Amino acid sequence: MIITKLLEDNLKLQTLSKLQFAKDINIGLSSTPKKLSSKYFYDTRGSQIFQEITKLDEYYLTRAELEILERIKNILPDLVGKNEVDIVELGVGDGHKTKIIINSFLDKKIKVNFFPIDISAEAMHLLEDHISESKNLNIHAVVGEYIEGMNFAREHSKNRQIVLFLGSNIGNFNKTDGENILKKIKSILKKDDFLLIGFDLKKDIEFMTRAYSDHEGITAKFNLNILERINTELRGNFEVENFEHLALYNPELGAMESYLISLKDQIVTISELKKKFKFDAYEPIHLEYSFKFLEKDIQDLSIQGGFKCIGNFKDGNKYFIDSLWQV
Ligand code: AVI
Repeated sequence: MIITKLLEDNLKLQTLSKLQFAKDINIGLSSTPKKLSSKYFYDTRGSQIFQEITKLDEYYLTRAELEILERIKNILPDLVGKNEVDIVELGVGDGHKTKIIINSFLDKKIKVNFFPIDISAEAMHLLEDHISESKNLNIHAVVGEYIEGMNFAREHSKNRQIVLFLGSNIGNFNKTDGENILKKIKSILKKDDFLLIGFDLKKDIEFMTRAYSDHEGITAKFNLNILERINTELRGNFEVENFEHLALYNPELGAMESYLISLKDQIVTISELKKKFKFDAYEPIHLEYSFKFLEKDIQDLSIQGGFKCIGNFKDGNKYFIDSLWQV
């Protein structure tokens, strides 16, 4: 299979993203309260642990969405109605979900140009293992941020586009950033292009909380990995066993939130930043928001983003919605 990897090989971009990482870590750990952005979870190890999370019993999101995609896979090729299509995926998983969508086009003899976009090069390697070769499938993997990747896809294609923004990735953006990204997506798309976007629905609080604090401690490992990443990439000396993972539902925000809690008074040195950071016992570092939605929120978001909502598709348990929007 021919996979063109772009942006990843661009040294200038790599240097820029390392500088940005250092800058964001410095700002986040110097803030009160301390915070680190969840977008930095996904280094090679983090992407691998995230794949483990998607297979956990407690993490219902992936199973629910796979069920929906199996159910609706034939709607898309019929709606697109052309013999060639561009599928752009924002934030790729291990390829299971994407495969369902891509095959639904290939089965109907529709040629697919697939543009997976992810900040993690590792995510692309996982994808490579799961998407099978076909003469009707071209893959152009873009390692980079969503919007720069979408601009790249737009420059290289003239076909009707379907953007996949699955897995409730939108839930990791706060309200303002989420609305902004949807507007940016819309501004790159052309009339009649589609966006298939996943939303995790509000549900029993204990049930949601278990999804973010599984009994095997995989989510804890996932969150603590960000400290390991700082140790490796910025020469930090975090002792990860001195921090504990905590996941809570915030009913005012309607979001699961993840923290790392410092278990004692401690000082951490990050050599690349030439700086020491002091942690009090029980001091939190905020890591992640995973916003949860009501069906009416989805309708509002589509309107704010400038899209027409064509349909909301739920799994049998009504845990999750994949919503199909059109420009
Ligand atoms: C990628 N994202 C949608 C996941 C979520 O559910 O917010 C990330 C995750 N964090 C902890 N578990 C999974």
